[in-house]
Amino acid sequence: MIYLITGGAGFIGSNYVNHLLAENRQVIILDSLTYAGNLENISSHLNYENILIPTTHRRLSPISIEDESPQTIRVEYDSSTEKNRLAFKTKGFHSRAVNVESIADSVQTLLQQHSLIFVYGSIVDSDLVSALMPLCDIVVNFAAETHVDRSILNPDEFIRTDVYGTYVLLEAARKCENLKKFVHISTDEVYGVATGHSFTESDPINPRNPYSASKAAADRLVYAYNQTYNLPVTIVRPSNNFGPYQYPEKLIPVMIIKALRDEPLPVYGDGRQIRDWLYVNDTVRALDCIVSEGGIGEVYNIAGGNERENIEVVRFILQTLNKPETLIQHIKDRPGHDRRYSLDDTKLCEELGFRHSGSFEENLKSTIQWYLDNREWWQRIIESDSDYTEFIQAWYGSTVNAGK
Ligand SMILES: NC(=O)c1ccc[n+]([C@@H]2O[C@H](COP(=O)([O-])OP(=O)(O)OC[C@H]3O[C@@H](n4cnc5c(N)ncnc54)[C@H](O)[C@@H]3O)[C@@H](O)[C@H]2O)c1
Repeated sequence: MIYLITGGAGFIGSNYVNHLLAENRQVIILDSLTYAGNLENISSHLNYENILIPTTHRRLSPISIEDESPQTIRVEYDSSTEKNRLAFKTKGFHSRAVNVESIADSVQTLLQQHSLIFVYGSIVDSDLVSALMPLCDIVVNFAAETHVDRSILNPDEFIRTDVYGTYVLLEAARKCENLKKFVHISTDEVYGVATGHSFTESDPINPRNPYSASKAAADRLVYAYNQTYNLPVTIVRPSNNFGPYQYPEKLIPVMIIKALRDEPLPVYGDGRQIRDWLYVNDTVRALDCIVSEGGIGEVYNIAGGNERENIEVVRFILQTLNKPETLIQHIKDRPGHDRRYSLDDTKLCEELGFRHSGSFEENLKSTIQWYLDNREWWQRIIESDSDYTEFIQAWYGSTVNAGK
């Protein structure tokens, strides 16, 4: 079984890839290393041979980098933002340049010696996607723009990646007769606000911000490819994840890092918005069940079973780190902020036998410990990644320190 994991350098994707590799599976990652993608998340499986960068992304072509030291990479990219980001993102990693026309051969050859091949590129690139798709048995599509706040500032990339990118993957997938399953990672946010019961898979969707609307469009497009073309798809709607390697813009890592730095913790409005927290290790285990046993054309919620007000989570983090609650700073609420998300995952538990592990508090403590033990990982982002500082300034203005 060869897995094509899109977005495998992001938070949930990298946790899933690390799990698959520990189980001796073979994985091809396709990831465009946006601000949220990070090769360090999967670094223990990377060496100088298995990072492939299509030559279309290099101004100097052909380029040979085998003679360079493993700690350097040529940065003679053109001056567009994407190329500068590529230089930043691959710094410290040794990669290979490959022609798109021969990328399938390169990947196939390398798969004889490596269990992971990382391909730099976007899911909207139909040439690249069409070259990789026939090589795999299972696709798991994590690739997406994922931050609600960023979608409010600039929805454009959300439509391009989350909707159009999913379409490109589906088109390539329907030409591959041997593909066993296309698993699409959707989100609990497609249901919109939960005012009463916890949502089941048969509840209507009602997204209320550009992120959740683009995810909802992709979710239904994937379903349509099953109904129209018989594509073997399964759709997954997890609730709010937390755990190691989460980019420091989502609630839990933001609050942990701010508390560790004795900086004000920005809490939207009264902080009483409710989220259902799901530990990323549970997501990964649930995905194992869904990939192997999940029904074709079916949707599966993955709930956390841990509904908590944001302010409770923030207080717990402060207590655990022995920091004062005076660090909490209430700021203006997010526009269209959904008050509560709530999922029912009886279908996953009863039909596929899934069980959650550990309590929310234990898992949150382990996550806090991970951020304590991995300061270099997040310091590099908040101190040298211009994507991070520019977003913090654009979204929070002067009310919140970008972390420099
Ligand atoms: N984090 C959560 O709480 C949560 C909850 C429910 C669902 N989800 C969904 O799970 C998936 C993964 O979420 P995450 O939190 O790990 O996201 P993330 O933002 O941490 O990572 C996204 C990854 O996708 C890559 N990517 C973005 N655009 C791409 C493109 N055009 N082509 C290829 N790669 C691209 C990024 O480089 C990054 O590695 C997403 O689809 C998200 O909507 C996340």
